[in-house]
Amino acid sequence: MRLIIEPNYEQLSKWAANYVIERINAASGNAKPFVLGLPTGSSPEAMYAELIKAYKEGRVSFKNVVTFNMDEYVGLPESHPQSYHSFMAENLFKHIDCPKENIHILNGNAKDLQAECQHYEDMIREAGGIDLFLGGIGPDGHIAFNEPGSSLRSRTRVKTLTSDTRIANSRFFENDPEKVPAHALTVGVGTVMDAKEVLILVNGHHKAEALRAAVEGGITQKWTISALQMHEHGIIVCDEAATDKLTVETYKYFKNIEKENL
Ligand code: GLP
Repeated sequence: MRLIIEPNYEQLSKWAANYVIERINAASGNAKPFVLGLPTGSSPEAMYAELIKAYKEGRVSFKNVVTFNMDEYVGLPESHPQSYHSFMAENLFKHIDCPKENIHILNGNAKDLQAECQHYEDMIREAGGIDLFLGGIGPDGHIAFNEPGSSLRSRTRVKTLTSDTRIANSRFFENDPEKVPAHALTVGVGTVMDAKEVLILVNGHHKAEALRAAVEGGITQKWTISALQMHEHGIIVCDEAATDKLTVETYKYFKNIEKENL
C-alpha cells in the first residue's frame, strides 16, 4: 500500500485529480475505454472540481472513459438533491464530456433490487473490469456502503445502513437521521478490490481512527477499508489531520518512502 500524506485537503484533492488525469491520458490511445469507479460524499468534492478545471483547460477528456459509481440510496428519487445521481450530475458529469451512455449509477428505485445489483456486476465485467476505483471512507472505515461487519469478499447488493452512518449523513438531510434512507445499494468490498488500482481519499481528524485501522490495524470486517491491505495497487491519499492517530514510526516511514516517489 502507498500512503501519500499531503498538507491539507486542497493538496490531497489536487494530488488525486492529477493521478486520475495521468491514468486517463496514459490510456487515451487505447481502443478500450478507461474504466473509472467513482465515489460521492464530501471527500471527493474538491478532486471533482479539479477534474472539471482540467477538462476546461483541455488537460483531460472523458470521451473514452466509462464510469461506475459506488452506491446509491434505496427509495430516494433520482431527482432528490441528495441522491447520488444528483450529486454526480452537479459535481462532475454536467461539466465534462463523458458520454451519457458511459455513465453507470445503481438504480435504488429498481423493482428488483437484487437483479439490479447482479446486472451492475455483469456490466462491470463486460466493461473489462474497473481500471481505477476511487473512494472515500466513513469515520467507521466503511468503503462505499460496506458497513462494519460486511464480508470482505462481498459483491454489489442491498445494505442496511448503520445508525452511525445515518447520523453522519444526516447533515445532508436537515440534520435528521430518520430522513436518511435506511438502505442503500452498494458495490461490495470484493467489487472494489477487483479493480486494477484503488485510490482512497481520507481527510480530517474525524477520519484519523479509520486511517489508523486501515494502515496499522489488522484486516478485519470491522473496518472494511482494511481489505485494501490485500490489494496489489492500493493507494491512500490523506491530509495531515487524518494522520493524527498514526504512530510516529508509520508516519515517518511513508513520508520517507514517498520522497523517492516524487
Ligand atoms: C457515505 C458514502 C461513502 C463515503 C462516506 C464518507 O457513506 N457511501 O462512499 O466514502 O459517506 O463521506 P464523506 O466523504 O462525506 O465523509
